[in-house]
Amino acid sequence: MASIVLKRTGQKMPLIGFGLWKVTKSSCADTVYNALKAGYRLLDGAGDYGNEKEAGEGLRRAIADGVVKREEVFVTSKLWNTFHQYDHAKALAKKQLELWGIDYFDLFLVHFPIALQYVDPSHRYPPEWWGDDGKVHLQNTPMHETWRAMEELVDEGKAKNIGLSNSQGSLILDVLRYARIEPQVLQIELHPYLTQEPLLNLCKTLGIAVTGYSSLGPQSYVELGVDKGVPNLLNHDVVGTVAKNAGKSHAQVLLRWAVQQGVAVIPKSNNHDRLVQNLQVDSFELSEADMKALSSLNINLRLNDPADIDPRMGIFA
Ligand SMILES: NC(=O)c1ccc[n+]([C@@H]2O[C@H](COP(=O)([O-])OP(=O)(O)OC[C@H]3O[C@@H](n4cnc5c(N)ncnc54)[C@H](OP(=O)(O)O)[C@@H]3O)[C@@H](O)[C@H]2O)c1
Repeated sequence: MASIVLKRTGQKMPLIGFGLWKVTKSSCADTVYNALKAGYRLLDGAGDYGNEKEAGEGLRRAIADGVVKREEVFVTSKLWNTFHQYDHAKALAKKQLELWGIDYFDLFLVHFPIALQYVDPSHRYPPEWWGDDGKVHLQNTPMHETWRAMEELVDEGKAKNIGLSNSQGSLILDVLRYARIEPQVLQIELHPYLTQEPLLNLCKTLGIAVTGYSSLGPQSYVELGVDKGVPNLLNHDVVGTVAKNAGKSHAQVLLRWAVQQGVAVIPKSNNHDRLVQNLQVDSFELSEADMKALSSLNINLRLNDPADIDPRMGIFA
């Protein structure tokens, strides 16, 4: 499987991984097991997805059955917004490792550059965006405090690599000013409606690997009722023409568009056939014209914007 070599550790991050957001909890262990059996070697989880225990069960069963060895699987997880304070970040990473039933994450990301008021995990986990009163409560924890905890997770062997998600250039440059251990990966929303070339160029310049999420565009947001009413890329005419040229599915060419730019992808599917199909995107090439045709669909449409929940969280403003 093609991979990206991470700068600090030289560790290889697979170009295609399996996303765990909205993977059904009751079948998550089996889905993860079958994803590994089908050839996936990267699992993209997060505290917020509420299925780390089940994902860990699937991974550990696959290890016990000899499907994979732990060191062959790149496990990513993310620190949620309510745990940005130094001691909370340290404690939550430990709790998340316990849920997975593993000793280290290959990559641990700060999920959003947004600090929210602490919610004790024994009270509610995952805590999501809101307090018990249904309102968003911001907290004044600066990123340098959170980043110090992230660096110590590396020192302690709990994370091999650390990185950021949903962050823009100004924050990345600021973290680099004080980082003892630099962010190795940036995970961002990326699809032909949101092409983010300047951010990709900055990461390339800095040697930060990029993972794109929601590669299939609005589809992931349809079930949440927040797809912003744009035409679905999975039945878009331009995507259809590119798919026909390549002899592949709409989903495969959308994933290929990112991979061909050197961006890792982490498609999610609760359906085994689609999960297998999504893995098969590193053995064909899109023509330059087809790459351009997909990129020309850009409308700077951000489907995952916390400002839609509360304008005080306008991290992309
Ligand atoms: N860092 C962040 O803030 C952040 C935010 C969002 C996502 N992520 C990560 O990125 C991963 C992927 O993003 P995502 O889950 O938003 O979206 P996605 O992978 O782009 O799309 C998933 C949606 O597409 C459908 N689908 C999957 N493969 C398909 C195919 N071959 N043909 C047709 N439909 C297909 C899925 O339905 P079925 O399940 O029914 O197949 C689901 O509705 C997440 O799981 C998560 O790990 C990270």
